Amino acid sequence: MAKDTLFSQGKNPLPPFEFNEQVVEVFDDMIERSVPLYREALRRQAALAAHFYREGSRLYDLGCSNGNFGVVFLQTMGPRDFQMDAVDNSPPMIAAYRKRLAHLSGTERIRPQEADIQHIALDNPSVVVLNLTLQFLHPRQRDDLIDKIHCALVSGGALLITEKIVHSDPGMATLQQRFYYDFKRENGYSELEISQKREALENVLIPETVESHGNRLKRAGFRKIDLWLKWFNFASWLAIKE
Ligand SMILES: C[S@@+](CC[C@H](N)C(=O)[O-])C[C@H]1O[C@@H](n2cnc3c(N)ncnc32)[C@H](O)[C@@H]1O
Repeated sequence: MAKDTLFSQGKNPLPPFEFNEQVVEVFDDMIERSVPLYREALRRQAALAAHFYREGSRLYDLGCSNGNFGVVFLQTMGPRDFQMDAVDNSPPMIAAYRKRLAHLSGTERIRPQEADIQHIALDNPSVVVLNLTLQFLHPRQRDDLIDKIHCALVSGGALLITEKIVHSDPGMATLQQRFYYDFKRENGYSELEISQKREALENVLIPETVESHGNRLKRAGFRKIDLWLKWFNFASWLAIKE
């Protein structure tokens, strides 16, 4: 796994963060050292997805990156049949995903495609996965996507979301950020790397509160909602369509 040193040298001007070739090369190291409980969340989501997946339906992984969820789901499902559409608008991410699948078996069940998740049609989904991706859409466009997902899901289908969040109380938000930066330091990131990454993500990744996410899910029509994993400023939800 290539080590993420993308922000280790001072850059002036600092370009906004994007999922380009350089990021794709170090993506696994970056995400594992930047997202608390990343692997744990994927494992449990794969188990939840296997539970909610209905034969003959489709599973969508929206903002799939290089396929970390898809690979864990493949292992979780074993020989069980499924159809997954894995969607991302970063060409190097989709190229990396396809390359990865070429070395595995049973991968005809996964179809990686380069597209904007806001414009794709959702065809008979029983599970939709939206990991660390809603946060990159403009807040106004988030409502439309969650509405579209709720409308498309089969009855009893599930939406699985993970997001970076912000606390509504400024003091709590500061405390959470302090613990998050400690987590990054413990994982070997320097002060310069932490501050440059934060600056590069400003206005690119816009976190919302737990309350905003819950309200959006309810407005879309979800009634069964569980915040099943939370670590300071990261949260994962399960929302079921009745
Ligand atoms: C933090 S990564 C997601 C990580 C991935 N879901 C995982 O669990 O490993 C965010 C991804 O969302 C993609 N993305 C952001 N906006 C998008 C959009 N409008 N349509 C499709 N993909 C998008 C980015 O290219 C990037 O690969």
